[in-house]
Amino acid sequence: MNTEQTKNIKNEMPRDQMNLVIVGHVDHGKSTLIGRLLADTGSLPKGKLEHVKQMCKRNAKPFEYAFLLDALKDEQRQGITIDAARCFFKTKKRYYLILDAPGHIEFLKNMITGASRAEAALLVIDADEGVQENSKRHGYMLSLLGIKQVVVLINKMDLVDYRQSVFTDIRGKYSRFLKNIGLKPLNFVPVSAKEGVNITKIDSCIPWYQGPSVLEHIDGFAAQASKDQQPFRLPVQDVYKFTEKGDSRRIIAGTVQTGTVNVGDEVIFLPSEKRSSIKSIEGFNLPRKNSVSAGYATGFTLAEQVFAQRGEIMCRANDVLPLTGTTFKANVFWLGKSPLVPNKRYTLKLAATQVPVYVKKIESVLDVGTLNNSQAKTQIERHDVAECIFQTLTPIAFDRSADMEETGRFVIVDRYDISGGGIIADAVDSERDYVDDYVKHRSRLIKTSIIPTNMRIAQYKQKPAMIALTSSQLQDKALHDFAHALERNFFQRGLYVSLSGLGDGFLIENSHYTDSREEYIYKLGNLAYVFARSGLMSIMVIPQLRGHEAYALKKLATDQEVLFVTYGENKLNTVPVDCELDRHQSKEQLIEAVTRLIYKRKLVLR
Ligand code: GTP
Ligand code: MG
Repeated sequence: MNTEQTKNIKNEMPRDQMNLVIVGHVDHGKSTLIGRLLADTGSLPKGKLEHVKQMCKRNAKPFEYAFLLDALKDEQRQGITIDAARCFFKTKKRYYLILDAPGHIEFLKNMITGASRAEAALLVIDADEGVQENSKRHGYMLSLLGIKQVVVLINKMDLVDYRQSVFTDIRGKYSRFLKNIGLKPLNFVPVSAKEGVNITKIDSCIPWYQGPSVLEHIDGFAAQASKDQQPFRLPVQDVYKFTEKGDSRRIIAGTVQTGTVNVGDEVIFLPSEKRSSIKSIEGFNLPRKNSVSAGYATGFTLAEQVFAQRGEIMCRANDVLPLTGTTFKANVFWLGKSPLVPNKRYTLKLAATQVPVYVKKIESVLDVGTLNNSQAKTQIERHDVAECIFQTLTPIAFDRSADMEETGRFVIVDRYDISGGGIIADAVDSERDYVDDYVKHRSRLIKTSIIPTNMRIAQYKQKPAMIALTSSQLQDKALHDFAHALERNFFQRGLYVSLSGLGDGFLIENSHYTDSREEYIYKLGNLAYVFARSGLMSIMVIPQLRGHEAYALKKLATDQEVLFVTYGENKLNTVPVDCELDRHQSKEQLIEAVTRLIYKRKLVLR
């Protein structure tokens, strides 16, 4: 290639790329429209159009513009678009990636999972068939997903002899519908994708239409504001330890979703609220950088070590911060084979977080066809759209999707399948957490002794209690040794005591067990409950007990005193501490300290 050619290409090279989605009811002409756009903008490989036309001729099959897409992808399965096809076309202004949403509902899956995002949409309606179910459903989805740049194409105008009355009738009906769901399209355009009318140029066969062509509309869509300027969000994907002996540094790894962060910036991890500052930005096999922005996968080291966890969101302390909590209101779209039901356990995936989640309440289920809200439904069927209150087992960080798309949308996994998606409307203050509801119903799930606690207290001369023993280290042999010594001492005093806790499987950070640590906290809380109903004092050893776990444990351990004892300095700021042990003291001194505590609390009555 000579320099002249290179220069030409550079001059031709449009600057940006925009993602467009084409939606509409089955057979209303989406693929035909795309074929037209590809052909009429000269975006097809040389000779492709002729080749496909020849093929059709040889097979005595009428030529379809939609075949161009299939020919591009070499998939010609009965003429139905199977999956959201992707193809490119270019105009003088920029490149476009088109997502041909199949007439089926599947496109939403891609949109909500973030597999593909669109900044603008063309919504196709067949002039002859008029507004159909998916015309409405897809319109609603665009509104739900916050895609505001929408142009409606009334297609197949050739089938209705380009009559204006057909166009105005559909436009009237459909704009009323859109108004109800808060969507105002930029325009309605009468077109014939098949005949190429009003697609890339205005055609005189529709003299009553004065507006821009489809292509002019497309080039007129505004590009999305740069993500670099938004508040900084880095979902923590992993925490790597340096493997050199004695090196306690860790690398926090993830992909920057939005915003920019610089070396030296103060950061906060949510929901744990741990703070530190960026010491370095590590490229993978790349030179170090001083700042990093949206779209980059990278690693950070921190000036002060904090125990950040996978799934947390790292933010800049001075930015607008995400919301945190267990309860939020969201719009969900359900795709699961079995319905979405309250109080069943699902998995919520939001950014890098993965936590157990429940539907606490179905506020309303929308019939998209009629736009009727039903408050009476007790479950959400496949393809239903609903507004629900969700509750996670442990707190998470999230945004309202209207503020931040990336950290404001989620998917719901039922066993192993992605079964729904949603966008967060807002956080909800909840008086009752999941654990409250759980405890309320627990007596129907777990049988315990019916001997009255008072009788046990009188006989054993001690009160039921749980001593939750923790330290700020995950692997802490000294903590376990101390716990056993404490139990033995209490036993030798004649107390009815038991010891349990989290086993070795939880000692490895990010081991595959840690995802279900929450469940084990619940199991231990239930043990404490059963032990207390049996009159025992239980020692629960839980390394690195976190604030929300302490909260859940305290609620689960009903019918007893609950004491939190830290072995060493309490770095877990949100855990209420009844006794902080100085780990430099001897075992005997520490046992003495805990013994004083249980007498002071009048747990031993002898
Ligand atoms: P799915 O992908 O199956 O949802 O369909 P689609 O929306 O992509 O429709 P497609 O483009 O495959 O068109 C469906 C049928 O309508 C084809 O037979 C097209 O030839 C026909 N069609 C599309 N646009 C026009 C048009 O403007 N006029 C006429 N007369 N027929 C059209
Ligand atoms: Mg199609």
